Amino acid sequence: MEGFQVVSRGPLTAPLTGEVRVGGAKNSALKLMSAALLAPGRTVVTNVPDILDVHVMGHLLEELGCSVTVEVGNGDEGAVVAGRAVIDVPEELHPEAPYDLVRRLRASISVLGPLVARCGRARVALPGGDNIGSRGLDMHLTGLRELGAEVRIEHGFVVAEVPGGLRASNLWLDFPSVGATENLVMASVLAQGTTVIDNVAREPEISDLCGMLRAMGAVIDGVGGSTLTVEGVDRLVPVEHETVPDRIVSGTWAFAVAVAGGDLTVAGGRAHHLDIVLDKLASAGAEVSTDSADGFRVAADKRLESFDVVTLPYPGFPTDLQPFAMALAAVSDGTAMITENVFEARFMFAQELARLGADLRTDGHHAVVRGRPVLSGAPVVAHDIRAGAALVLAGLAAEGTTTVAESHHIDRGYPSFAEVLSGLGADVTRIDLPDPER
Ligand code: EPU
Repeated sequence: MEGFQVVSRGPLTAPLTGEVRVGGAKNSALKLMSAALLAPGRTVVTNVPDILDVHVMGHLLEELGCSVTVEVGNGDEGAVVAGRAVIDVPEELHPEAPYDLVRRLRASISVLGPLVARCGRARVALPGGDNIGSRGLDMHLTGLRELGAEVRIEHGFVVAEVPGGLRASNLWLDFPSVGATENLVMASVLAQGTTVIDNVAREPEISDLCGMLRAMGAVIDGVGGSTLTVEGVDRLVPVEHETVPDRIVSGTWAFAVAVAGGDLTVAGGRAHHLDIVLDKLASAGAEVSTDSADGFRVAADKRLESFDVVTLPYPGFPTDLQPFAMALAAVSDGTAMITENVFEARFMFAQELARLGADLRTDGHHAVVRGRPVLSGAPVVAHDIRAGAALVLAGLAAEGTTTVAESHHIDRGYPSFAEVLSGLGADVTRIDLPDPER
C-alpha cells in the first residue's frame, strides 16, 4: 500500500519557499464534464486537474454513450497541469450510471439532472456513504419531483422518469447544498418555463457551472446570489470552457506555509475566493499579499496565533479547509474552537491528529484545540482527501517521521502533492507501507 513519509524537525525548521501553480478545481471540472451531457456535439473542458476522479468521470460519460478523451500530464512545474477533457456527446444517450463507477466517485450524482433533462429518464446508482458523513440526496430528489419527475429508489438506483419533459417550478432548498444546486440548475435549463430556485449554494464552482451553461445557451439570472432564475430553452450547444482555479488547493498551500513557515507564491490562486481564510491567516500573524494579478503570496516566519473557525456554505469558511485549520491550531499559540457545520464526520481527522500529539477534544460538532509548539511524528491514516493532505502538513510540524497511509485519497484531490512539497523544500516522499490486512 502506498503512503507518504514526512520527515521534519518541527515547525519553521524547513520553510516552504518558491511558487506553486494551482490548476482547475476538481469540484468544478467534474460538474462541467456532466454539463456536457446537456448538448449533443463536442464539448471541451479545459484546465482540468490531473487526478483520478477526472478519469473516472470520463469513464462514466463513456458508459452513458459519449466518447471521451482526457489529456493530462505533469508539466515542468509540478502541479501545473493544463489538462483538457474532450467529450463527444451523441444525440441518444444511454441514461444509466452503474454502481461500480458511481461508488468510486460521489460527484457522479451530478449526471442525474442532465440525464433527466436530456432523456426524460435516468437510472443512477446511489453513491452510498463515505468517510465524511452520510451525505443525503433528499434535496436533489425533492427538486426533481417538483420539476415533474417521478423519482423512486429501486434496487440501489435512483430512477427518475418524466415522459413529457420537465416543467418549471418554484423550488427552495432546506440548505444551500452544492450538489443539489448543480443538479437542479442542470435539470431546469431544459425544462419548459421559468424555474426559480431559492437558497442555492453560492460557491465559485456554481458560478463556473452557470457560466458554462450560459455559454451553451442557457438563460440563467442571479448567478453568484442565493436565488437563481432559469428560463428553460429547447436546446443547448456544446462549448469550450475553462475550469475555475481550485480555491481549496490554493487555500491548502496558504495553510502549508502557516503550519511549516516559509514564503510561497500561489500562482493562479484567486484570493477573492478565499477572503475569510486569508483574512484569518493574516490576523493570526501571517503575511498575505493579494495585489498580484496572478495569484497571491503567503509568508510566515513565526508561530501564528490561534483562531476560531466555523464552517459554513460559501462565502463562509469552507468545510474542505477545516482539517487544515485544525492542524494549524494544533501548533499555534493559544486555544482555538473549531465548529464543523457541514459534514458531521469530518472530525474523524481529529483522532489522527491526536496521534501526532495534538492537544484536542471534540464534542459533537465542536473541537477545542490547544496549540503546542511542536507535534510528534507517528504513523497515521488518511480517511479522505482533505484529512490526508492536512495530516501531511501536520507532519511538517511534527518532530521525527510521520507516515500517512491510504495516500490514494490525497492523490484524488492534489496532483503530485508529495513531489510539489519536496520541490518547495519539505522532506516528503512516497513509500510502500505494509498492507493493514496482512
Ligand atoms: N445534504 C443533504 N441532502 C442533500 C444534499 C446534501 O442532507 O440532498 C447534506 C450533506 O449530507 C452534507 C451537506 O448537506 O452534510 C452539504 O452537502 P453539499 O450537497 O453541499 O455537498 P456535496 O455537493 O456533496 C461538495 C463537494 C465537497 C464539499 C461540499 C461543500 C464535490 C464533488 N464535493 O459536496 O467537497 O465539501 O460540496 O462545499 O463537489 C472535497 O472536495 O473534499 C469535498 C468533500
